[in-house]
Amino acid sequence: MTPAAAPDQPEQSRDGSGSVPRHVAIIMDGNGRWAKQRGLPRVAGHKAGAEAVRRTMQAAVDHGVEVLTLYAFSSENWRRSSEEIADLTGLMRFYLERELATLQKENVRLKLIGDCSAFGPDLARQLGKALERTAGNQRLTLVVALNYGSRAEIAAAARRVAHKVAAGELDPHTVDEHNLECELQTHGLPELDLLIRTSGEVRLSNFLLWQAAYAELVFSDVLWPDFGERAFADALEQFAGRQRRFGGR
Ligand code: FPP
Repeated sequence: MTPAAAPDQPEQSRDGSGSVPRHVAIIMDGNGRWAKQRGLPRVAGHKAGAEAVRRTMQAAVDHGVEVLTLYAFSSENWRRSSEEIADLTGLMRFYLERELATLQKENVRLKLIGDCSAFGPDLARQLGKALERTAGNQRLTLVVALNYGSRAEIAAAARRVAHKVAAGELDPHTVDEHNLECELQTHGLPELDLLIRTSGEVRLSNFLLWQAAYAELVFSDVLWPDFGERAFADALEQFAGRQRRFGGR
């Protein structure tokens, strides 16, 4: 068996500094605890979390990161109360409306992964409009994971490969990592370089399991609503100090 090729190594970011990750993903965690610490309802934590999204997006633009992927709603989040789900959906609609102009001004392209049809026609329509309007933007790609689960994404990719095999488009003996990767929702984006999780929890929670194969992981104690330029710069600094070997020596 031939060994899998190492993914493209992010030697050079667009600003040429060489140590800035091209693709950063974040598991935004700790909104509830942030609110509880202040005696506030959970929705206040999510509101403050949405402001942290703005700050972090700006920090990513300023640092020359190409892709920022945010875990906004997991396929497991449906287990939360209907009230909290409605709050989260309402917040997303509010911020999408308010921030579309910012995305345009900052030259940010929006991309979605997951299945956002489950949120109903209004949000789906609004998301469709934002995708269309920002499609030509080039400075940063903001990928929002909505109703996303990594195992489901991989299973769907395997299903599509199986269909191609059944249709005679693919020889089953030649099916490899590349064929599967081509069917993932992140296909076409640069390899994931850095995965950050906030709030002191140390797990991946079904987020980008395939894509994180060679990513550097940074676990921050900062609760998501307190995240911003400083914490982002700190994670980037940790990344710059890591020696990436991609399985080699
Ligand atoms: C985790 O905190 C956070 C979420 C489940 C939702 C993330 C949503 C936002 C940041 C707000 C809106 C998003 C956008 C893209 C505008 P938690 O509730 O699990 O916190 P806890 O673990 O402390 O309870």
